[in-house]
Amino acid sequence: MPLTKTTIVSSTLVAALAVCSVTSSPAGPQSEFKNLRVLPRNVSSKTLQSIMIDDFEDGLGVACSFCHAEQKGSHKLDYASDAKPEKSIARNMMRMTLKLNARYFQVHRPGLGDPGLVITCATCHQGKPRPDLSAEGQ
Ligand code: HEC
Ligand code: HEC
Repeated sequence: MPLTKTTIVSSTLVAALAVCSVTSSPAGPQSEFKNLRVLPRNVSSKTLQSIMIDDFEDGLGVACSFCHAEQKGSHKLDYASDAKPEKSIARNMMRMTLKLNARYFQVHRPGLGDPGLVITCATCHQGKPRPDLSAEGQ
């Protein structure tokens, strides 16, 4: 019967829309971070921590405070602040690293911290904030 068919179709649609609105909600329950522009906004704190520690801190041989500014009147770091230029440079480097993997190494949908990345921060930085550009032996 046509009526039944319509009812089935529309209830399927309603269900699909409900799923969409849950998964694409910008302020989902997981977005505990305030100022992410390159990482997915719903990144888990476990993944974010391992990117900050293994890729950034160890990859560049720096501390968190290399990129993150202190809160006014305290030595605590304000991780959401963009006051330090190193943080913006790091964002560009993140975009570049993802692009290198996708475009030149055919990594499908690369994400920072993924084990399948060919190029990481450490590939160039080798534990230093500025890669050694004089490696050609002078
Ligand atoms: C090389 C630079 C760099 C270093 C070192 C670094 N971070 Fe970050 N951090 C960033 C950038 C860039 C972002 C923003 C990423 C984005 O926009 O997606 C960020 C974002 C964050 C955020 C999310 C803040 C928010 O609410 O938006 C936290 C928390 C954080 N970092 C913690 C740390 C900790 C803890 C360390 C040391 C273990 C650390 N970071 C080391 C560059 C760095
Ligand atoms: C393809 C090589 C390459 C990759 C990959 C790379 N970088 Fe860099 N990065 C460089 C070079 C080269 C410089 C130095 C540029 C200069 O001296 O002007 C640099 C400089 C920087 C600086 C500025 C350091 C300073 O002392 O001012 C930051 C911060 C940085 N990179 C973060 C990152 C992060 C975080 C990643 C990984 C997401 C990354 N880079 C991946 C090549 C790379």
